[in-house]
Amino acid sequence: MPEVWKVDVAVEARRFDAHVAGLTADEAARAARFHRNEDRERFVVGRSTRRLLLARRLGVDAETLVFVESHYGKPALRPGTQPLPPHFNSSHSGRWVLHAIADVEVGVDVERVRPDFARIDDFLWVLSPDERRLVQAAPESCRAATLATVWVRKEAYVKALGEGLSRSLPDIGIVSGSNGEPVLACDRNAGGTGRRWRFTDLGIDNLHKACLVHEGAARPIVVRKFAA
Ligand SMILES: CC(C)(COP(=O)(O)OP(=O)(O)OC[C@H]1O[C@@H](n2cnc3c(N)ncnc32)[C@H](O)[C@@H]1OP(=O)(O)O)[C@@H](O)C(=O)NCCC(=O)NCCS
Repeated sequence: MPEVWKVDVAVEARRFDAHVAGLTADEAARAARFHRNEDRERFVVGRSTRRLLLARRLGVDAETLVFVESHYGKPALRPGTQPLPPHFNSSHSGRWVLHAIADVEVGVDVERVRPDFARIDDFLWVLSPDERRLVQAAPESCRAATLATVWVRKEAYVKALGEGLSRSLPDIGIVSGSNGEPVLACDRNAGGTGRRWRFTDLGIDNLHKACLVHEGAARPIVVRKFAA
């Protein structure tokens, strides 16, 4: 069953030194290069908790895990890792890091709802015609939240595919299906439509929108809060 772990960065940053100690030398060097402390904390907490959660799931020591990246940067565990590694994906925004872990391909995205999301004209370049209509029809007071919802669904999908923002985003349309749940209406690149994807909007808090996309048939999703 797909799991989504919510990590509260402000809480985990109190154990910053312990989290840094769990990083590789490359990760620690990258952490040191961030200009803003909040970005550094988000990165350190994200990488450290990802490792801890995957090690727990596999029942192995965290330091034994070796990560690799695909051509477009999607992280995975090194092939040959035993027992068979799960699929996973991570996202960070505002106070949250989310980690999705599943036995099928997954993508996750979280976004803090920013007031500038209401300036729809700035975001037309990412929207399909259906999505544009949906956002334009939203009352002004919830336009930013609607755009954030559309955005996290789309980004979770391109992250599930592993292609990220290398994709032309208006070519992809995600709409509300008959039961209100998001569904993939079109993807002009057959890489996506040839497979079956499930979208689940995640309730994180009032300030953030988040979505999980996983491959295959619908299955229950469990959302848990990370605790060391
Ligand atoms: C993946 C991507 C959409 C993330 O966007 P974002 O909103 O800035 O960041 P998020 O917080 O949601 O996600 C970041 C996490 O996504 C994961 N990620 C990175 N690349 C990914 C990809 N191609 N697919 C899925 N997940 C990816 C990583 O775990 C990353 O966290 P980390 O940097 O702490 O390891 C964006 O970075 C992207 O499109 N990358 C691909 C770039 C590309 O095309 N490179 C070409 C190389 S030839």
